[in-house]
Amino acid sequence: MKMIQEIEYKQVGTFEDTKYERIHNEIFSDSSIASRLVANEIASLIKQKDEEGKPCVLGLATGSSPIKVYEELVNLHRSGELSFRNVVTFNLDEYYPMDCDHQQSYYHFMHQHLFDHVDINPENVNIPKGDIPLSDMDQYCIDYEMKIKRYGGLDFQLLGIGRTGHIGFNEPGSHPNSGTRMITLDHVTRSDASSDFNGLENVPKKAVTMGINTIMKSKRVILLAWGHKKATVVKETIEGEIIPSIPASFLQEHKNTTIILDSEAASELTRIKTPWLVDQCIWTEALKFKAVTWLSQEVKKPVLKLTDKDYNEHGMSGLLALEGSSYNLNITIFNKLQHTITGWPGGKPQADDTNRPERAEPSKKRVLIFSPHPDDDVISMGGTFLRLIDQGHDVHIAYQTSGNIAVTDEEALKFAEVAQSFNPDNRDTVYQRIIESLRSKKTSDIDVLEARKIKGLIRRMESLGATRYFGLEDSKVHFLDLPFYETGKVKKNPLGAEDITIVQSIIESVKPHQIYAAGDLADPHGTHKVCLDAIFAAIDRVKDESFMDDCWVWLYRGAWQEWDVSEIEMAVPLSPDEVNKKTNAILFHQSQKDRVMFQGEDAREFWLRAQERNRNTALLYDELGLADYEAIEAFKRYKFK
Ligand code: F6R
Repeated sequence: MKMIQEIEYKQVGTFEDTKYERIHNEIFSDSSIASRLVANEIASLIKQKDEEGKPCVLGLATGSSPIKVYEELVNLHRSGELSFRNVVTFNLDEYYPMDCDHQQSYYHFMHQHLFDHVDINPENVNIPKGDIPLSDMDQYCIDYEMKIKRYGGLDFQLLGIGRTGHIGFNEPGSHPNSGTRMITLDHVTRSDASSDFNGLENVPKKAVTMGINTIMKSKRVILLAWGHKKATVVKETIEGEIIPSIPASFLQEHKNTTIILDSEAASELTRIKTPWLVDQCIWTEALKFKAVTWLSQEVKKPVLKLTDKDYNEHGMSGLLALEGSSYNLNITIFNKLQHTITGWPGGKPQADDTNRPERAEPSKKRVLIFSPHPDDDVISMGGTFLRLIDQGHDVHIAYQTSGNIAVTDEEALKFAEVAQSFNPDNRDTVYQRIIESLRSKKTSDIDVLEARKIKGLIRRMESLGATRYFGLEDSKVHFLDLPFYETGKVKKNPLGAEDITIVQSIIESVKPHQIYAAGDLADPHGTHKVCLDAIFAAIDRVKDESFMDDCWVWLYRGAWQEWDVSEIEMAVPLSPDEVNKKTNAILFHQSQKDRVMFQGEDAREFWLRAQERNRNTALLYDELGLADYEAIEAFKRYKFK
């Protein structure tokens, strides 16, 4: 079988580098490249089996991880390179109870992403059924297992991994000998699925899944993991003990498994996070910065107090030899950290900017802040936003999406009812239509256009509340309503040329000296990533225009995460008063308060999370031996040329 290493790819690390890892894994800079290679391996296997006159038995997964692999397989089929005539598939799992035609069924998913677009014989498709009576379930599971066996077992199993460490829906506690069976879903798994189901209460509590043993018997296993959310469980799976609380760790005993990672999912692996603990390193400036800031946190000492002994005991004697002494190294890193701090995010006029994060000139800059949703600007960089305005820059804000699906029906109803009450006798109004549609809406229904419109408008007005509070003129506020977002569903359309053109035109009309963007680089499906891709694509189109020679791009992180301290290139301290103003601005987003629809697992409100995050960054700087600020917002520069 063609191993993935034989094919050309952009790989950022190899298995051989490490003594900690117990499963073969490959790390890629980008999940698209990795997915293409996995699809190629599957395609080679299908062809090889075909040449041998045998069926190719594939175990398939759902979820966000394999989507691009399926896209590639469909492309290979469309280009005439691959036929699925000899392919038999067995899917890992299905929710229970679940009808095939439900939008969230895995049956629907597989047809939407793969089966409807290839020449597979429908009789060769096997997906566990979520709609059979409980009393028939045991026999059904035995039959599913036996059917796989009759085909000679799985030739290939594709897997994702849940944050609980589940493979298939084998949740923590699953036995290595388990076969296909019913299982109760873990709370974390249900909460991860809650936005797809429009709320936790709609996520099924059970599922039917192939067992650990079913998976282990497959001749080849590839597990895919993308994004920082998977980083911890990936480390536990690859470096930890084999334990039922991390079911994926059983794969350590499978002799032909490869785990395919993007750089974010690999970020907690020892050889990536702390490579000096694994082997000799090539000490780039970036790695030195990362290592010393890590050491300072590890031994809980400010940078300037680190000793030769600290370095030697933490795998950094090579670095010490290179630098001469801890004294010199400590000062270099301390200065570097200090130079990230500035109260002048738009540059300090007439100051020497050699060691400042931003240029002094032009002293009044044109600034374009992109916010994926209508509140990311204030949540993630509200203090910096305010400073840029107060320091006299020409600030523009561009809200990329309408954010309409995150407004509850109740909230929209409230506004429609208020509007309708002005003229209660006229029932032929848009408000009345919105009221009626929302009142008769079922959980799985998509909002009618007018209801979506009012939801978008609610968020628009909230944004204007916040920007007016900051003293920004309405003419500087741009609502882009990018079309990819406007599906009325959690699942969005792929980024299209029109989206990129809209972003391009706002860049061309503002001609900014600074662009700020939400840099959630690794979230494969999130709106933030799509919005960032739109900005990168637009920048790519305009990068040769002369105004772009003076344009710097700064990335901030979304509501859930902060940059690692070694990645921060500009740290903007906030005073207690600025923290209050930022909080007030976030509170203008009333529809996102109290009961947020897509909150993630952190139940706290956004203003609280933002406060805590900025406070923690300030604490970190303090612990590294810098000044003790109230709060800090952090940015990393993106260089496009
Ligand atoms: C899907 C499945 C699950 C997912 C896992 C990761 O058939 O069995 O194990 O692979 O929950 O889901 P994503 O890829 O959405 O992060």
